[in-house]
Amino acid sequence: MTAIEVSHLSKRFGRTQALRDVRLSVAKGEMVALIGASGSGKSTLIRHLAGLEVGEGTQSRIEIFGRVAQAGGRLGPHAKELRGRVSVIFQQFNLVGRISVLTNVLVGNLGKISRWRGTFGLFNRGEKQAAEAALARVGIPKVAAQRASTLSGGQQQRAAIARTLVQRAEILLADEPIASLDPASARRVMDVLADVNARDGITVIVSLHQVEFARQYCPRTVAMRDGTVIYDGPSSALTNDFLAELYGAAADELVLADTGASHGAPHPAPPPAAALPERHGVLEPA
Ligand SMILES: Nc1ncnc2c1ncn2[C@@H]1O[C@H](COP(=O)(O)OP(=O)(O)O)[C@@H](O)[C@H]1O
Ligand SMILES: [Mg+2]
Repeated sequence: MTAIEVSHLSKRFGRTQALRDVRLSVAKGEMVALIGASGSGKSTLIRHLAGLEVGEGTQSRIEIFGRVAQAGGRLGPHAKELRGRVSVIFQQFNLVGRISVLTNVLVGNLGKISRWRGTFGLFNRGEKQAAEAALARVGIPKVAAQRASTLSGGQQQRAAIARTLVQRAEILLADEPIASLDPASARRVMDVLADVNARDGITVIVSLHQVEFARQYCPRTVAMRDGTVIYDGPSSALTNDFLAELYGAAADELVLADTGASHGAPHPAPPPAAALPERHGVLEPA
């Protein structure tokens, strides 16, 4: 089944052509990396997929699970419902710092519960258990009562993924979720993304400033430059030499200087999800 189908998507901001006739098809259950230097259009594409922007031109079109999310520069009739099936995680500021982690995770449920209950923070026991289970699932089981601002950057990203689970989103769009994290925290966040992809079947699109993590975690990479898709295929083919061919001098921005990976050898694939520590099934209340 096709999760995302984009065709003829273009977008201009003033004189900047942020997206240029983008075509993209993502099957349900894929984990796709979106790479490109800054300004190449990654965030703009993600914002369109999330229904936060509309494209230009009569031909521009985005379908989510076979239904029109937007076409010809207008949101489709099912846009709101489709938005509920898509969760977005940004580089920063995914949580409201002064309220508890638990409430932040539960707010993922807002679409599904009545507004006043959300406003007053009245969640039933089953909902709270689901949120706690989701936090345990992403590896931060003890932080529910803390203010979100007390979490580290990596923990905040994992809490945002927990919210995606509680929301029961089917597509997770993560816009440079590891850009401001140290390498160990970045790895943990990527592990959690890979885990929800493998075990929950959530379709993941993750934009990454650097290609290293794409090679390690995502079977497929879509590479952008100046608003167009310049490569779409196996991540393993994105050797440093090929990146240099695609990006010229700008390739430097996409390759970590300190990995010693300058010979273009792809890194070994991550361990399969089965090799990850087994945890208990998450959204089923204990
Ligand atoms: N709201 C906006 N107003 C004006 N220009 C924008 C806006 N959003 C993005 N752009 C421009 O569009 C281009 C693509 O930006 P963006 O999608 O943020 O790239 P990336 O996420 O790959 O860094 C850039 O030149 C950027 O400056
Ligand atoms: Mg961006």
